Amino acid sequence: MDKIILGIESSCDDTSAAIIKDGYMLSNIIANQKVHEAYGGVVPELASRAHQQNIIPVVDQAIKAAGVNKDKISGIAFTRGPGLLGSLLVGNSFAKGFALVNEIPLIEVNHLQAHVLAHFIKEKDKEIKHPKFPFLCLLVSGGHSQIIKVNDYFDMEIIGQTIDDAAGEAFDKCAKTIGLPYPGGPLIDKYAKAGNPTTFTFTRPKVKGYDYSFSGLKTAFLYFIRDRVKENPRFIKENRDDLCASIQFTIIDILLKKLKLAIKETGINEIAVAGGVSANSGLRNTLFEYGRNQNLNVYFPEFKFTTDNAAMIFKLNILFHNNC
Ligand code: KG4
Ligand code: ZN
Repeated sequence: MDKIILGIESSCDDTSAAIIKDGYMLSNIIANQKVHEAYGGVVPELASRAHQQNIIPVVDQAIKAAGVNKDKISGIAFTRGPGLLGSLLVGNSFAKGFALVNEIPLIEVNHLQAHVLAHFIKEKDKEIKHPKFPFLCLLVSGGHSQIIKVNDYFDMEIIGQTIDDAAGEAFDKCAKTIGLPYPGGPLIDKYAKAGNPTTFTFTRPKVKGYDYSFSGLKTAFLYFIRDRVKENPRFIKENRDDLCASIQFTIIDILLKKLKLAIKETGINEIAVAGGVSANSGLRNTLFEYGRNQNLNVYFPEFKFTTDNAAMIFKLNILFHNNC
């Protein structure tokens, strides 16, 4: 019998549903919530209300796009956490109701594990190149910055993590400081392409081991902009691209310094990146180049699987990966 899994992701501000059949992704629908743009960050109450509105149409679209019969779904996987409580509750309640009515198993999935396992999503007629165990995964999203030693699909060890803000949060907050809407990460990436990364320099945090810190950088950037704008009210407008390139360069430098240390000390040469910030073109280019120079195998998920999506919420489907 076919194994058809419906995946649900609602941990933050994206409502997503995916259908995976016998280990292959057939559909992956994501509804972004534009409502947060004006606030410079996700407003939890608005996020959970938007999830409530989106969840049924998104699931419906995912089932239709996959061309499967709803009654043939054999299990439902959903994001258990971590994430915003109200947002998680919507996906969780929907999944429980769906499982109960259809008398199918309910599979809970850890959101961070799911980002790492996004490297193993399979699509028909597409060859995937995924990391081999054990590998190091730099997991960088809006809520997390971690270096994970991945020994097997469900055997992961966090060896370093941020002690305050996440890398994605640093992108978003610095973007907000220069008047860009949420989420600012993709916009910083876009404008950085036309800027000079060495125009402005910002101090790097001093944190032990493989841990990260981004809150100091965020504050330093805020004061720097405040002082420059006092001298020249047009400072941001005149320097937007260089500001974006410089802050992006600094965040990448901080991320890679600790990753390089972990590579050196563990001797692992399979390196993966996951989470929303893995969409960043500067991070991709810099790490691929480092990998080429150091004989490392570097893996980034396909662009559409970098930010939150339900295709990565597919724990059970790992069972179909026997031939990987
Ligand atoms: O993984 P994700 O969708 O949600 C969380 O689990 O947090 O990550 C969202 C984060 C946001 O902070 C967003 O600004 C950042 O990923 N992001 C980027 C880029 N695309 C998304 N940051 C830098 N460059 C990008 N191209
Ligand atoms: Zn995420």
